[in-house]
Amino acid sequence: MFNYSFGVGVYYFMGLYRAKILGTGLYYPQKVVTNDDLARSIDTSDQWITERTGIKKRRISSTDGGEFPTDMAMNAAFIALKNANLSANDINCIIFATFTPDYRLPNCATILQTKLGITNGCAAMDIAAACSGFLYGLNTANAFIQTGMMKNILVIGSEMLSREVDWSDRGTCILFGDGCGVALVGRNEDANDSSEILATKLGADGSGRDFLYQTYGGSVNPITPEIAASRERYLTMNGKEMFKVAVRTLAEISLSAVEAAGLKGIDEIDWFIPHQANHRILEATADRLSIDPKKVIINIEDYANTSAATIPTAFHQAVSDGRIKRGQLLLFSAFGGGLTSASTVLRY
Ligand code: ACO
Repeated sequence: MFNYSFGVGVYYFMGLYRAKILGTGLYYPQKVVTNDDLARSIDTSDQWITERTGIKKRRISSTDGGEFPTDMAMNAAFIALKNANLSANDINCIIFATFTPDYRLPNCATILQTKLGITNGCAAMDIAAACSGFLYGLNTANAFIQTGMMKNILVIGSEMLSREVDWSDRGTCILFGDGCGVALVGRNEDANDSSEILATKLGADGSGRDFLYQTYGGSVNPITPEIAASRERYLTMNGKEMFKVAVRTLAEISLSAVEAAGLKGIDEIDWFIPHQANHRILEATADRLSIDPKKVIINIEDYANTSAATIPTAFHQAVSDGRIKRGQLLLFSAFGGGLTSASTVLRY
């Protein structure tokens, strides 16, 4: 049975099969950088960063190798495969969300395919949707599984933002960190198992592109030797505008996904796992949604904003420490550069 309903920039599809999360994993780089460490090189303080963002420290990838986005993804994927009791060759498709890929060509998904030892020739693609990338990937996986096109899909959010951040700009560098989270999504054919991705909403508003952008490094403005030596190549952000739009958009898309899932209200959600951009954004969003703050999973204090990796890492941590249990209702919501947004309701 197919049941389509279209909204503005979103769509909902009920397919032949149900998709569920089979297993999760994460990898964080070894190196920890605290606010006090940053205060030694830029004009800031632990107090300012903590009060404005809730961030105390972040992980930073080694540039010597072993912690680039596909390395982190390999480590996280092996954990997820073990949790799902699957082997690498059971994967039919790799969806790799990142805006900090190892290379521009080939994509990260194909590099990861080799690193995982996959020999079945599975599909492998990258998704560029900034901080919403993991949910764009999750929802793409859901659609592939619902149609019966694929059975097991590895969805990744892996970022090495430390390469794209200007470490002399106190307005941006304090916010970001590196890391990777993954989820294995698969077909649920057990009628007695209620685990299922229930509803997905994807959206974007390209008119907000100037709130977070990088001018150099693409076809329009390639990186010349002069640009490589300057600060121009790094990420630029209008923090105040991002803050305002983030709160409004996260709340709107969350409610829209809850409604699409057929829930009576947000009270039915057991756990809310939002993109971790800033603690104050999370508080304001929870407030707008009237969701109990105790139901909000937050890990920004220790890991900062890792873009596409924030939701799958926070999710894996909460599953691993027993907070999230099978059968519970989860709400994931993200917002990021572009401006992209996404929300998913699922029964874990
Ligand atoms: N340490 C000390 N002072 C600072 C720092 C710092 N790290 N950064 C800025 N300041 C100063 C500014 O220079 C300014 O000083 P002035 O008044 O003398 O000019 C003052 O603090 C206030 O600066 P604002 O930019 O107005 O500070 P604001 O309260 O807006 O906080 C922040 C800045 C934390 C970036 C906030 O706007 C924010 O978190 N925005 C959300 C952005 C975000 O999360 N983006 C992530 C990417 S998108 C996403 O993931 C959804």
